[in-house]
Amino acid sequence: MATILAIESSCDETAAAVCCDAKILSNIIATQKIHEQFGGVVPELASRAHMQHIVPVVDAALKKANCNLSDIDAIAFTQAPGLIGALLVGGQFAKSLALSLNKPLIAVHHMQAHVLANLIADPKPTFPFLCLTVSGGHTQIVLCESPLSMTVIGQTIDDAAGEAFDKTAKIIGLPYPGGPLIDKYAKEGNPNRFQFPEPQIQGLDFSFSGLKTSILYFLNNAGASNVYKQEFVVSQEDRAAFIAQNLNDICASVQQRIVSILLNKLSKAALQTGIKEICIAGGVSANSGLRKGLQEMGEQKKWNVFIPPFEYCTDNAAMIAITGYYKYLAGQYDDLNIAPSAKSSW
Ligand code: KG4
Ligand code: ZN
Repeated sequence: MATILAIESSCDETAAAVCCDAKILSNIIATQKIHEQFGGVVPELASRAHMQHIVPVVDAALKKANCNLSDIDAIAFTQAPGLIGALLVGGQFAKSLALSLNKPLIAVHHMQAHVLANLIADPKPTFPFLCLTVSGGHTQIVLCESPLSMTVIGQTIDDAAGEAFDKTAKIIGLPYPGGPLIDKYAKEGNPNRFQFPEPQIQGLDFSFSGLKTSILYFLNNAGASNVYKQEFVVSQEDRAAFIAQNLNDICASVQQRIVSILLNKLSKAALQTGIKEICIAGGVSANSGLRKGLQEMGEQKKWNVFIPPFEYCTDNAAMIAITGYYKYLAGQYDDLNIAPSAKSSW
C-alpha cells in the first residue's frame, strides 16, 4: 500500500489531494477569485495567493483523508508547465515536506496528469488510448500506451482551446474565465445562426488564433454584414446592442465551431491510429457541447468514450496524486534540487 500526498499550484488553483494506491481519499481545491477583476490570471497575485492557501489546503486534504503526515509515503507535486512563481510555491512546499519527512519527492508533469485523470474513476479506458487534452494553455492529442508512456501526436500551433473560449468571452465583454459562461449562454442559443471559419491546418495539429480574429471582425461588423473586416463598420453602441440581443446565438455558434475543430482532429487521430478507446481531459472537457459532441461521435464511430467526472477535468491535485502513484510504483523519484519549469519539457 502506498499513500501519496499531492500538491498542484501551476496556475490559479491551489490544490492538494491524498490517494491510497489508485484510490483518491481527498481532493481539495482553493480557487483564486482575485483574478476575475483583471480579466485573466495575474502571475504575481497567483503566487501570493498560493502562499496564503497552501497550508490550509494541504491540512484540509490530510484531514479529509483521515491521514497524518506520518502516514504519507511520498510527496508528489506539479513541476511543469505553468506560471513559474506559482509552481515555485507548490514545489518548495513539497520539497520541504519531503525533506522533513525523509520521504521520496515525485515531480509530475501537469499535462500528463490531466491525461491520467481518466484513470481515477470507473469506468476506465484500457491501453492504448487516445486523449484529447484541452485546457487554458494546451490543446493536445496524446497517445497513451501505459500510465508513464505517452506521446503527443497533435497540438495547437497557436492558441489553446481554452484560450479560444476565454479570448472570445473577453471580446464579447464577459468576465474571466469566459469558457464556463460561453457554455452557459450557448445552452440557450442556436449553434447554426452564425458561421465561423474552420482553420485549414494539415495533420493532427490545431489552430485557434484565426477563429478568434474572425469573431472579433464579425462583431466589429455586427448587424451590418457577414463580411469579416478589421475596421468597425458599426458604432460601439450598435456593436454592444448586437451582442446583447444575440448573446446566446453568438456563444452557441462559437462553441459549435471550437467543438467541431476539436472533434474533427480527434476523429482523424482515431482513424490514423486505429484506436477506439477515446478520452478527454483538461478544463475545456467540462464544456457541455464538447461532452455531448464527443458522446454522439463515439456512438456513431463505435468508440469507447471516457469523460472524467467534472472535478477531475479542471485543475486538481487528484490527477497529480494518481500520476505520483504510478511514478512511485515505478521508483521514479526526484532530487530535492529539481527546478520547476514554466515550459512543457515533454
Ligand atoms: O485545465 P484547466 O482548469 O487549467 C489549465 O491548465 O489551463 O483549464 C482552464 C480552461 C479555461 O480556459 C476555462 O475557460 C476552460 O478551461 N473551461 C471551459 C469550461 N470550464 C472551464 N471552457 C469551456 N466550457 C466550460 N464549461
Ligand atoms: Zn490544467
